[in-house]
Amino acid sequence: MKILYLLNIFLFLLLFSCNENTSVSDRNSNKYNFDKPDDFPEIIFPENNQYSDAKAFLGQKLFTEKILSRNNSISCASCHLPERAFSSGSPVSFIIDKDLTVRNVPTIMNVTYNKIFNWDGSSNNLEDMIYKDLTLPTVFYNDTNIIVQRLNQNPDYKRLFFEAYGTYDIKAYQISNAISVFVRTLISGNSRYDKFRRGDKNALNESEKRGMDIFFSERTNCSKCHSGLLFTDNQYHNTGTTTHYFDLGRYYVTKNHNDRGKFKTPTLRNIELTSPYKHNGEQITLEDVIDNYNSGGKFFINKDTLIKELNLNQQERKDLINFLKSLTDEKFKK
Ligand code: HEC
Ligand code: HEC
Repeated sequence: MKILYLLNIFLFLLLFSCNENTSVSDRNSNKYNFDKPDDFPEIIFPENNQYSDAKAFLGQKLFTEKILSRNNSISCASCHLPERAFSSGSPVSFIIDKDLTVRNVPTIMNVTYNKIFNWDGSSNNLEDMIYKDLTLPTVFYNDTNIIVQRLNQNPDYKRLFFEAYGTYDIKAYQISNAISVFVRTLISGNSRYDKFRRGDKNALNESEKRGMDIFFSERTNCSKCHSGLLFTDNQYHNTGTTTHYFDLGRYYVTKNHNDRGKFKTPTLRNIELTSPYKHNGEQITLEDVIDNYNSGGKFFINKDTLIKELNLNQQERKDLINFLKSLTDEKFKK
């Protein structure tokens, strides 16, 4: 509960820090004050969806707004829980539609830096993707006209939309744009690993340092795919997660048989908080994930050649897990 409480404070500060005098002109000013470390790339807002405090504020409110969903039952935050680095904690997302595969909810911290979205990369545009969420059977399954109507009936929203867009005529794309602006402000780059990287050599303990060496070694290849500041190469791989791929991942987008069972390399930042793991949520703990890699993954025709038996002993497995846990942002820890 304490974490939850502090997180709320964090979110509150995040959104209000540049917003002390909440006059309309201030909210519309083009400055932002995210928790972005200096060594993280600039946040690029698309030409047609530039940042304003008013949009970010509206977007945050809409993120937790249940009237967006068909039966007023869920919001973005029902699946993307702040205290779990905006992932869900249940093995698969809970809206099930027989035409669509059911997938584990990914974290959306740092999603602003993604080039591709969803496990299969079915979208390369955040604003479009979120617009689709409003209408898709898997998520809100709603008619955007109905959503607009509901928002129009609420004086608070009428005011907030006016502050963000300068008009009382609410448009469906403004809803997803405001949410996208908010989502783009969710930056996470202050873990103990980051402290270490920035020069504080005591930020990691001995076990974590050993785990880091294992992670970045040729022996495991972990960092070949989980590469860079965000621990992803933005590519698709099959890692032998399971023997039966009910979900064929990237194949659905390309229809190329070599892409069967391939999924986007997920970030590992805040991985301690985003259990369960993999596209199908089949691996519940980090121990399960490491055991799967250690054994060389399950047999599958498209398994990546970088995935091989690792022969990590008990201590090495522990060290590797401890390193992964050092990737948790301090703001989720307090
Ligand atoms: C019913 C649960 C659910 C709800 C509600 C939901 N999401 Fe998601 N979200 C998911 C799942 C599952 C995925 C992965 C989908 C896939 O891979 O096909 C996802 C993926 C995403 C991604 C892409 C992340 C990445 O790294 O590729 C973003 C961004 C996102 N959601 C934002 C939102 C926003 C904003 C809302 C509200 C408009 C929302 N989601 C509502 C379950 C949900
Ligand atoms: C060939 C590229 C590749 C290599 C090598 C690799 N991974 Fe992965 N990793 C992936 C992909 C792709 C997924 C998602 C697979 C899926 O969902 O079926 C993944 C998923 C994960 C997850 C779960 C993430 C989540 O959010 O569910 C963890 C943890 C992880 N990898 C850690 C590691 C570690 C530790 C190593 C080294 C022992 C490693 N990976 C090696 C590509 C790779």
